[in-house]
Order: sequence, then structure tokens, then C-alpha cells
Amino acid sequence: MFLDAFTAAVQEMFEYGRTILHKRRLDPQPDLLSAIARAQVDGEFLADEYLDGSWLLIVFAGNDTTRNTISGAMELLTTFPDQKAKLLANPGLMPGAVNEIIRMVSPVLYMRRTATKDVEVAGQRIAEGEKVIMYYCSANRDEAMFPDPDRFDIERPNADKHIAFGYGPHTCIGKQVAKLQLEAVYRQLLARFPDIRQAGPKDVAPNNFVYAIRSMPVEFTPEAK
Ligand code: HEM
Repeated sequence: MFLDAFTAAVQEMFEYGRTILHKRRLDPQPDLLSAIARAQVDGEFLADEYLDGSWLLIVFAGNDTTRNTISGAMELLTTFPDQKAKLLANPGLMPGAVNEIIRMVSPVLYMRRTATKDVEVAGQRIAEGEKVIMYYCSANRDEAMFPDPDRFDIERPNADKHIAFGYGPHTCIGKQVAKLQLEAVYRQLLARFPDIRQAGPKDVAPNNFVYAIRSMPVEFTPEAK
């Protein structure tokens, strides 16, 4: 039942994407979707399956990840009020806080690769052709790399060494945009609603690929008019 609903929703999302992209191909606008719709390889427009992939990347890779990081930040700032107070007192700590939040939230849990040759990683042999799942969420809480990894520390000296954006040739292409967006959101939120805090339990989607907070109540004192 859940699978049927899921498949139908995904189908609907792709159909919507294809409709928009085909529309943009005929009537381009000054936007990213038009650039994708009109991209050509060897003089040919992209086939529908590539349009689907691009649509998925725009909707999911560039959107859900950042959104879930913002919700995760609200939880962290509530659970660790001393860190929030430090950030409010010194907004210069923001870039480090952005990294530390992404490290702890790790919204994309893993990606999979296929080994191109025999290799040994930390004593584990991996044969050529074997599939390997890289759990970014686990690496980001590896105590050998991040001492006391469950502690939220906006001044953690190596917070930028997290691999929540992946690693290597396919590392997240949007990571700089994501960090800019996150920093802008936190700055605005904390400046306008300094007492914003989580006000009840979160509802996390039953999904083992992304850490997705479906809902989480927050409360704050509205700005004075
Ligand atoms: C906190 C926010 C984000 C996180 C945690 C995140 C995480 C990731 C991860 C783990 C990958 C896979 C890397 C790999 O396979 O090695 C990835 C790929 C990608 N991301 Fe992000 N991402 C975020 C935001 C964004 C944004 C804002 C955009 C676009 C504006 C974006 C676009 C992409 C694209 C296009 C890829 C595929 C790159 C490739 O396969 O070469 N992401 N991201």
C-alpha cells in the first residue's frame, strides 16, 4: 500500500517535471529549467530519462537536503542552548556553526559505489566489482575524527572535515550554494526570532536514504510591529 502510494507520487512528480521542461524547451525563460530543457549533447536535446534525472536533482538534491538541515538546526540549537547563546552573542561564529550543523544532521545518509579494483580499507578487503555503501552519517560521527561526536560544538576546529556533501568527483555540486543559503537563513532566523526553539517531538519520515523531518513544532516570540 505504502509502496503503491510512493510509486504513484513519484510518477506524478516526474510527469509534472517533464511537462514543465518540455514547455520551457518551446518557450524558454531566463531560468535554470530552461537551460536544462535546452541543453544539447552532440546537437541533440536531452532524452526524457535525462530530463527526469535533472528534475530529480533540482527538486530533491537542491531542496530537501537544505530544508532538512534547517529543521535539524532548530533541534540542535534547542538541545544545546549554550551553543545557541554563543552564536547569538557572536555571529562571526556562523560559518563554523553551519559546518557543525551539516555534520550532525547529515541529511543524505549514504551513496553507493562499485569498487573499480581490489582494495583494503581499515582492514576490510573489498574486491573489484563489489558494491560499497558509504554511510556519510556514520563517518560524520566517527570519534576517531570528531572527538565526542554527539556533542554540538560550533567551535569544533575540524567541523569542515565532514563528508555530508560526499567526497571525490561526484561531491555535491551545490555545496557552496547550500552553505550560503543556510547561513542566510540562520542569520535571519536568529536576528528576528532569537528565542526560536523546538516545542515538541519531531516526526521523521520512514526513509533510510535521507534524514527527513516531516514536521517539528517550533515556538518563538513574534517581532514587535
Ligand atoms: C545541506 C545541503 C546538501 C547536502 C547535505 C547535499 C549532499 C549531497 C551528497 C551527499 C551528494 C552525493 C555526492 C556523491 O555521490 O559523492 C550530492 C550530490 C549532488 N548535489 Fe547536493 N547536497 C546539498 C545541497 C545541494 C544543493 C543546494 C544543490 C543544488 C543547487 C545540490 C545539487 C547536487 C547535485 C547536482 C549533485 C550530483 C553531483 C554529481 O553526481 O556529480 N545539492 N549532494
